[in-house]
Amino acid sequence: MNLQAALFLLLSLTSALCNSNVNEALTYSDKNVNRIDEDLLQLAAIPSISSLPEHAKDIIAASQWLIDHLKSSGLENVQLLPTNAQPSVYAEWLKADGAPTVLVYGHYDVQPVDPLQLWNTPPFEPTVDRKKDMLFRGRGVSDDKGGLLQPIHAVEAFLKTSKQLPVNVKFLLEGQEEIGSPNLAELLHENAGLLKADIALSADGGQISAEHSGIALGLRGGIAFEVEAQTVDVDLHSGMKGGSVQNPIHALAQFVDNLHAPNGSVNVEGFYRGVRERTEEDKADAAAFPFDEAAEMASLGAMGPHGEEGFTTLERRWLRPTLDVVGIWGGFTGTGIKTIVPSKATAKISCRLVPDQDPVAILEALRAHTEGHAPPQTKLTFRKLPFHAQPYLMPRNTMANRAATKVLKGLFKGPFYYREGGSIPALALMKEHLGIWCTSFGFGLSTDNLHSPNERYMITMWDKGREAWIRLLQEISTEAALENASDAAKDEL
Ligand SMILES: *[C@@H]1O[C@H](CO)[C@@H](O)[C@H](O)[C@H]1NC(C)=O
Ligand SMILES: *[C@@H]1O[C@H](CO)[C@@H](O)[C@H](O)[C@H]1NC(C)=O
Repeated sequence: MNLQAALFLLLSLTSALCNSNVNEALTYSDKNVNRIDEDLLQLAAIPSISSLPEHAKDIIAASQWLIDHLKSSGLENVQLLPTNAQPSVYAEWLKADGAPTVLVYGHYDVQPVDPLQLWNTPPFEPTVDRKKDMLFRGRGVSDDKGGLLQPIHAVEAFLKTSKQLPVNVKFLLEGQEEIGSPNLAELLHENAGLLKADIALSADGGQISAEHSGIALGLRGGIAFEVEAQTVDVDLHSGMKGGSVQNPIHALAQFVDNLHAPNGSVNVEGFYRGVRERTEEDKADAAAFPFDEAAEMASLGAMGPHGEEGFTTLERRWLRPTLDVVGIWGGFTGTGIKTIVPSKATAKISCRLVPDQDPVAILEALRAHTEGHAPPQTKLTFRKLPFHAQPYLMPRNTMANRAATKVLKGLFKGPFYYREGGSIPALALMKEHLGIWCTSFGFGLSTDNLHSPNERYMITMWDKGREAWIRLLQEISTEAALENASDAAKDEL
């Protein structure tokens, strides 16, 4: 018998044992479902809004709740990792000799709740209804308190039954995701040793729908800036001076109009530097993705798709950078009329960026473009705004993605490989500071009213997500052993 055959035999013997551990964990999790629901109700009742200083004590209360809960779940070395602002919570279990180490990321802070009058139930009096509508309701039940509790409950289910985990696990639960993780880079850098792992899994994120699962391979990055046009020192009388001096709103409109070519591409030298060519695999991913364009346009109230020529709607969102004016103002905007030639006008502009665009270089290209394209008799001033996210793209065939694919296949249709149009800075930061790729493994849905009134979480996704995490921890261990076996076989050849 060669080494590869021997290793596979050993694997199949151990897999019977592993399956029984998984089954015991699943049974435990079913039996304890009422208490598990109660955990989410308790955590979601804490108004841990990171953006409002008056909730600083609630941030501490939520982190303390997690510390107590992680300890009673059987995790070790549980501690607060302080930052200059909201702390992170850390916990670990590292007794799976020889197995990989998984860093699980989630966040316990939530968005503000205004406008309060649009909520049907009070945001911080969460409810669950397993009989009728099968929903949790309340701020944070989906984003991300429901999300981060799933892996904690999965770990608890193993530790309370077989007393061991299939892999080594570390948790990093952040308290400032909803304000853009301003201290995360520093925290990762300072704690790189403690947080060292082979792979990262994010418990923040979602699936495509209740039926269709997905693995997000990439995210767009972004930058933002504003341009101010000035033509005269003060607003002037439009009768006495109008028609004889430049109008800054006309000039700014002309500048903005020229930022795009007629075919929808961005008309700025250097803007597309680094953008990866669309591959056959990219096209195939976009074509396979479950997406009803007409239905979506109708649901948005859009009169039809619009964008860069030569690309489909999904390709535009996944693979192409954008430049969007997010606001523009100047002159007199009150009721009635004021007959002036204004002196100034301003536009705020944000760009979404794709691999391998460099946000710093793109910002410089836009600054140079602005300086070189002032309309006649107009002074343009360029100012950078605080939005900076690196685009992200992970390889498709990683050990964690293979394991996640197997698990999701058993519980949903798919998984479909796709890219997110938005940005999650944490993923690029974990790559930069810890050197690891992060697989998103969250179970929220776009219909959960994230960041909006009446946030909700489907109980089917809450339950399936917990099962998926239990199976994933085992599957990662199996994939790692398979990878070892095939490496060993290669060495033997
Ligand atoms: C992989 O191989 C290394 C080196 O032989 C060993 O220490 C480790 O336990 C193996 N890991 C798994 C998951 O089999
Ligand atoms: C769109 O037009 C610009 C400017 O004329 C050109 O450089 C670019 O290649 C065009 N893009 C496509 C997809 O045809």
